[in-house]
Amino acid sequence: MKIGIGNDHAAVDMKNDVVKFLEEKGIEVVNYGTDTYDSCNYPEYGEKVGRAVASGEVDLGILICGTGVGISLAANKVKGVRAVVCSEPYSAKLSRQHNNTNVLAFGARVIGVEMAKMIIDEWLNAEFMGGRHQTRVDMIMAIEDK
Ligand code: RB5
Repeated sequence: MKIGIGNDHAAVDMKNDVVKFLEEKGIEVVNYGTDTYDSCNYPEYGEKVGRAVASGEVDLGILICGTGVGISLAANKVKGVRAVVCSEPYSAKLSRQHNNTNVLAFGARVIGVEMAKMIIDEWLNAEFMGGRHQTRVDMIMAIEDK
């Protein structure tokens, strides 16, 4: 399992905690930055991780900005990406089971690192259920071609 991670200046500390958390589980992490507190533009990192997921360079992506909103919006513009912003584990789990999300986002200014770890665990442990959910995901992805 290889996870790509990206963040803006608001989320450097949380990103470092999350990388450590993932690596302790034996997960390979590719860090797409940023690694400084200098003000930067979150779309750059959302796009980088989105493209890495869409191309198969990594299996899944995790994005963190102040709220998780801007960086997930950017990732969702990449064809093939289904990014979700979560502040609690229930939506994270269902987003995998029903929506087959391939990018998880959250806000470093919204949740604490322990909540982030719970969200990540639920997201990673859940499996896409297919069936009627596949039909709906196919409908979402078809919008990209219209
Ligand atoms: C940066 O100040 C902030 O706008 C960004 O981290 C994020 O919250 C945007 O959605």
